[in-house]
Amino acid sequence: MNKKIIIANWKMNPSSQEEALRLVKNLLAQRLPKNIELIIAPPFVYLDLVKKNCGKEIKLAAQNIIWAERGAYTGEISSLMVKNLGCSHVIIGHSERRHKMGETDEMINLKLKEAFKIGLIPVLAVGEKEPNNDMIKVLTLQVKSALEGIGVSEVGRLIIAYEPVWAISTSGTGMIDTPDHALSAALLIRKIIGNLYGSEWAADLPVLYGGSVTSENIYDFIAQSGISGALVGGASLELQDFIKIIKAAKINE
Ligand code: PGA
Repeated sequence: MNKKIIIANWKMNPSSQEEALRLVKNLLAQRLPKNIELIIAPPFVYLDLVKKNCGKEIKLAAQNIIWAERGAYTGEISSLMVKNLGCSHVIIGHSERRHKMGETDEMINLKLKEAFKIGLIPVLAVGEKEPNNDMIKVLTLQVKSALEGIGVSEVGRLIIAYEPVWAISTSGTGMIDTPDHALSAALLIRKIIGNLYGSEWAADLPVLYGGSVTSENIYDFIAQSGISGALVGGASLELQDFIKIIKAAKINE
């Protein structure tokens, strides 16, 4: 069985280098299980610091990139820049970027192409906004448009994270997804990939779940063989909770 993947999405936290360093050092002071893939996605300004302090077993992800390599994009960061800082992964299309920053499916498609071109592993985030949205319609549209023009040779390097926006801890709904529903979304995503690229790609595609993951509920989500890991926001900043999440993830080996 493949290793479960846990991604810590720090979002726009913490507010100082000292705190960022403390988070990483406290994490490394624990005995981390070897049989999970642990990835930290800090804000851009801490990438270098985290890279220099996170040891070999933790990988690094950027939370976003622009679709161009360099040039007149004031305030933006390119995939080449984050790759040169040591990132192996990049989150693309997070719902906070889609809904707060106005990122469109077209921009997400361009970013994915750029990440593949530069050799980063993209973690494409998809998910419906409201619980009563048509999940099949939303996920089909988001996945298909994100992958428009992307070939089968690249899709083998893709990770998809299903994150229903209404279940994200800061969304304000207070609702939490159920493992059954998350699994049905993961299977749907595989089906869409299967239809686009063939069933062998769908079977190998890592599909993560994200949205209010805590040490209390992680096991129920990732115990599902169709769910390959978790994208963890708020709980990744709480050391004790995050350690428990990581340890729970390894039970599936
Ligand atoms: P959450 O965030 O775990 O705080 O709900 C997940 C995410 O937005 O990636």
